[in-house]
Amino acid sequence: MVDKVQKVWMDGELVNWDDANVHLLTHSLHYGVGAFEGIRAYQRTNGSVEVFRLNEHVDRLFDTAKLTLCQPKFTREQVKQACIDTLRANNMSEGYLRPIIFIGDGAMGIYAPNNPIRTAVIAWKWGAYLGDEALKSGIRCKISSFARHHINVSLAKAKMMGQYTNSVLAKREAKFGGYDEAIMLDVNGFVSEGTGENIFVVKKGVLHTPDLSSSILEGITRDTIMTIAREEGITVNECRITREQLWLADEVFLTGTAAEVTPIREVDNRAIGDGVVGPITKRLQARFFDIVKGSDSSHPEWLTKV
Ligand SMILES: Cc1ncc(COP(=O)(O)O)c(C=O)c1O
Repeated sequence: MVDKVQKVWMDGELVNWDDANVHLLTHSLHYGVGAFEGIRAYQRTNGSVEVFRLNEHVDRLFDTAKLTLCQPKFTREQVKQACIDTLRANNMSEGYLRPIIFIGDGAMGIYAPNNPIRTAVIAWKWGAYLGDEALKSGIRCKISSFARHHINVSLAKAKMMGQYTNSVLAKREAKFGGYDEAIMLDVNGFVSEGTGENIFVVKKGVLHTPDLSSSILEGITRDTIMTIAREEGITVNECRITREQLWLADEVFLTGTAAEVTPIREVDNRAIGDGVVGPITKRLQARFFDIVKGSDSSHPEWLTKV
């Protein structure tokens, strides 16, 4: 359950949480076309509140808007400011931001070119997405019976809301089966990503992750981890990964704004490595948290002060 905050930014103004409503004929509610983002703000050890990689998230929001032909009425700068204003209006020292660009009500039917394109930013408090224990000890995953969309079926590089029916179905299947998260293969059988996370495999000290031509979202945490890994002297290989390579990996972990850096200790009832969080995952996770909320100031370009 999301804890209510005071204000939501809607089409240019801050409105009360209870007034941030839409009509039932909102086009995106029926057909799922529109863009959204998930962004985190953290309080660092020096007390300052910083949004992590705000520029990149807003760029991806606008890329999704472009891919889905939803032209927002606001500029990137205005949406960035809206994110900051929403955190400030709710006195939040940390939290999750959800900008959303959607097709409002007006005409119904698939083609509704004149419906308004609406923009909102919602903020709420969100702890560890898969739980604190998941961050510490890792999670159990299942390869989903649902494949990730083929690149020509949907828009893998768009964070488009309708695309997430695929994720919700896979997540439910995994949870109902007693697992923590689903890992999705693409239609050719190669490892794609989690339901809301990118995936990394460590084998013999090298980090592997699916390349960007595969049906994955271009994760901003994925980019963060690849950058950190290279700084730590770890080779990063963007390539196709098979299910067996996953099962035989030394370490596997997921990355995402919500999931942060979550180790995987088991896939399809096979322990990953020794079934405990491995040294490279630990190192990268520690560095990640030090950058987003600790005292590592090596990447000021990733932080926007609130
Ligand atoms: C399907 C999917 N893959 C990967 C990610 C990770 O992306 P990011 O690290 O930018 O949050 C997300 C989350 O946004 C996602 O929904």
